Amino acid sequence: MAFVFFVKETILFPHFISTGPGTATDLNSGHAFDPNPGPIICFEPGSILNLETLRKWPPAPNPDRYCQKRYNLGKPHEKATKDVYLEEGSVVVIPVWPIHYDPKYYPDPHRFDPERFSDENKHNIKPFTYLPFGVGPRNCIGSRFAIIEVKAMVFDLLRHFELSPAPKTRVPAKLDPSQFAMRFLGGHWIRIKPRDVKA
Ligand code: HEM
Repeated sequence: MAFVFFVKETILFPHFISTGPGTATDLNSGHAFDPNPGPIICFEPGSILNLETLRKWPPAPNPDRYCQKRYNLGKPHEKATKDVYLEEGSVVVIPVWPIHYDPKYYPDPHRFDPERFSDENKHNIKPFTYLPFGVGPRNCIGSRFAIIEVKAMVFDLLRHFELSPAPKTRVPAKLDPSQFAMRFLGGHWIRIKPRDVKA
């Protein structure tokens, strides 16, 4: 799923892959793919695209937790007189989507802007506001592998094919509300043209 959404953003914003190191043109030389993803957030070009794709389209938007022990969350605001408790047995759903689209954390949140994750800007991302892989002791153990996997797939695809919007590609992309899994309204349409690449 992450791959499909990555491809969609890549064709709509080709300038991110057409200039500079690690680009579509460089892909033919085979130098664009760095197999070391580093920590979950890594900042060379391929990964900032991937990280921003997962911000805009988090494939698991509602991770949850089961409360095993009554827990005092404290007072919800300054004027409150009573503490708020999480009761044992309750389920807490973490609203990843609204957090990823909150302009407080991600200005102009509907804009695809991989630079949010660049070396210069990464310090602006507040802890616990980037949650495509969950957080805490039960977060995703495959996050680094997932990033490298998607990058490898996109790299290979771009090495052999030019991707561009097709007449049926919807801009801006919207999710299909009739589907439980994340699907684009109208389907996932792209134009694929083989490149002249040896090997
Ligand atoms: C883009 C791809 C992926 C996304 C967005 C993703 C996202 C997630 C999320 C949101 C969770 C729940 C975290 C939480 O509740 O805090 C999770 C758990 C998990 N993921 Fe992933 N995941 C991805 C790929 C993978 C891959 C490739 C693997 C294995 C190779 C993997 C293995 C796991 C496992 C084992 C858990 C359960 C961890 C636990 O309960 O302790 N995931 N993932």
